[in-house]
Amino acid sequence: MTSTTSQVYPVIWQDDRVLLIEQNRLPNEYTFVEIKCCDDMAHAIKTMIVRGAPAIGVAAAYGMYLGARDIQTESRDEFLNELEKIGKTLGQTRPTAVNLFWAIQRMLNTARKTLGPVEYLKTVLLETAKTINAEDIQTCQAIGDKGLEVLPKNPEKLTLLTHCNAGALATAGYGTALGVVRSAWTAGRLARVYADETRPRLQGAKLTAWECVQEGIPVTLITDNMAAHCMQRGLIHAVVVGADRIAANGDTANKIGTYSLALVAKAHKVPFFVAAPLSTIDFSIGDGSQIPIEERDPVEIYQVGNTRLTAEGVEFYNPAFDVTPAELIAAIITEYGAVVPSELQQFQTKQVV
Ligand code: MRU
Repeated sequence: MTSTTSQVYPVIWQDDRVLLIEQNRLPNEYTFVEIKCCDDMAHAIKTMIVRGAPAIGVAAAYGMYLGARDIQTESRDEFLNELEKIGKTLGQTRPTAVNLFWAIQRMLNTARKTLGPVEYLKTVLLETAKTINAEDIQTCQAIGDKGLEVLPKNPEKLTLLTHCNAGALATAGYGTALGVVRSAWTAGRLARVYADETRPRLQGAKLTAWECVQEGIPVTLITDNMAAHCMQRGLIHAVVVGADRIAANGDTANKIGTYSLALVAKAHKVPFFVAAPLSTIDFSIGDGSQIPIEERDPVEIYQVGNTRLTAEGVEFYNPAFDVTPAELIAAIITEYGAVVPSELQQFQTKQVV
């Protein structure tokens, strides 16, 4: 295995509470927020203290446990009813990343199939949240290694472009797209990573660039509208991005701007890869048109810091994600290997829910 562990863990279970890296404050401040109950967790997901599809899933799993822990009943039926309500609360935080719903469902299924008193169910739920957390790190390391196998063989040292942050901060640790970057770096196959700044919330500028600097990975920051120019100049050998939800046919929702990047990559014959765990695949929907796209507060577009950028009276549209059609994707890299999108279906039986 070529993976090394990254030292960044955005979700940490400690002393009956969760510590989350406050990602809104990076890179200027590296601080943690204490999450003591389910409502705290719902708020943290909604306000993007924790963000990135797999990290949201891990956070939601702990949120389910924190909610379960606080249910005051010895009746199993009442407990399960209350747990479902907690799942609904957490499920209303962000609509696109399917890992959120996957983790909630896995926790609910675990509670339903576990026999014994309510106190025992609570113990099993905590163990399940810890398992989801630990599994995600291993999964990302496997994605990194599988990705390494499909990257272009030439040149020996590659320059990869990524969008948004699909790194350790967006997962339990290590990252998906940035996991592939990490594995390539460790294997001596990476010259440099180009990071799109990723308007409007700037996850590339604030988070991806920070993660790379932490590990000494050479990183060049560009604005989103520079990607075509960089490809035209032959600076980029492959694009690797993460995913928030992948439909059964391989259509992939990821951070807004991913679709245009895929079109530009196709125009320049640069391979475009999506790296994601099986928990990001939604086999229940046939294609990307059914993926719900989150729309966020327009303030993210019209204001930088405290400065308004545009005139009063302008209207806004702020979709947080877009859908890249499967035909633009060279391969989807999962923990079980990289496949062309049309072969994704083979993994359905391997998905643990
Ligand atoms: O809005 P965000 O920051 O949660 O969006 C994150 C992304 O779009 C990531 O690329 C995606 O979740 C994959 S993370 C491994």
